[in-house]
Amino acid sequence: MKVVMTRSYDELSRQAADRVIQEIRDRKAVNLGLATGSTPLGMYRDILIHHRKDPLPLSGVMTFNLDEYVGIPTENPNSFHAYMNKHLFSKLPVPRHRIHLPDGMAADLQKECRRYESLIRKSGGIDIQILGVGENGHIGFNEPGTPFNSRTHVVRLTASTRQANAKDFGSVDRVPERAITMGISTIMNARSIMLLASGIRKAKPMAQLLNPIEPTEAWPVTVLKHHPDVTVIMDRDAASMSSFYQK
Ligand code: GLP
Repeated sequence: MKVVMTRSYDELSRQAADRVIQEIRDRKAVNLGLATGSTPLGMYRDILIHHRKDPLPLSGVMTFNLDEYVGIPTENPNSFHAYMNKHLFSKLPVPRHRIHLPDGMAADLQKECRRYESLIRKSGGIDIQILGVGENGHIGFNEPGTPFNSRTHVVRLTASTRQANAKDFGSVDRVPERAITMGISTIMNARSIMLLASGIRKAKPMAQLLNPIEPTEAWPVTVLKHHPDVTVIMDRDAASMSSFYQK
């Protein structure tokens, strides 16, 4: 595992953007696994700044998002479809048919999970998966206790995750109770993974990942210890509970 510690959130965002830009420029075709949440916002901003100055070759780019709420229409500003559109795709012209997110409005959610999983596989798999992490160690929406061998599935969100997302919805009871998420094994199939963590709220899950303890389903992020190509980019606050950290 490669660990990069940055002095600030802006430096974290720049480094993450540089890596994604590099992947897009280096490969004719690249499948990007994308994440939502507040952490990757700076990275998306920096990709767009770069693209305005020096347009990226986008014809070979395909994207797959980690997750989507169940029962929130795509045009609802709190859907992850709307988030991606607002923060990236409205200004980065990836061909529409090459952008993929799970459909949280599907009539048959189990079928939708199978469709998404097989779409990723048939498209050649994910080359680089961007990840954030929840305070309880969740990745995507894989909450503590999710089996490491899980594939794309429907999850019931924990009270703490709904609370963490309540600000977007105005109140916690408006946050959907369920979501579709890539499973842990879906995420682990990506050829490389880039995990971003910023702020003191992420110090505990990062310590679980970086300290020498066995991976445990109680902290989903610890599964990344088993992956051969992970880069962690985090700021000092997120690193502050890890044993290698020195003030
Ligand atoms: C959400 C998302 C995750 C994200 C996490 C952390 O629940 N489903 O993909 O990584 O929360 O979010 P943030 O970056 O806002 O702290």
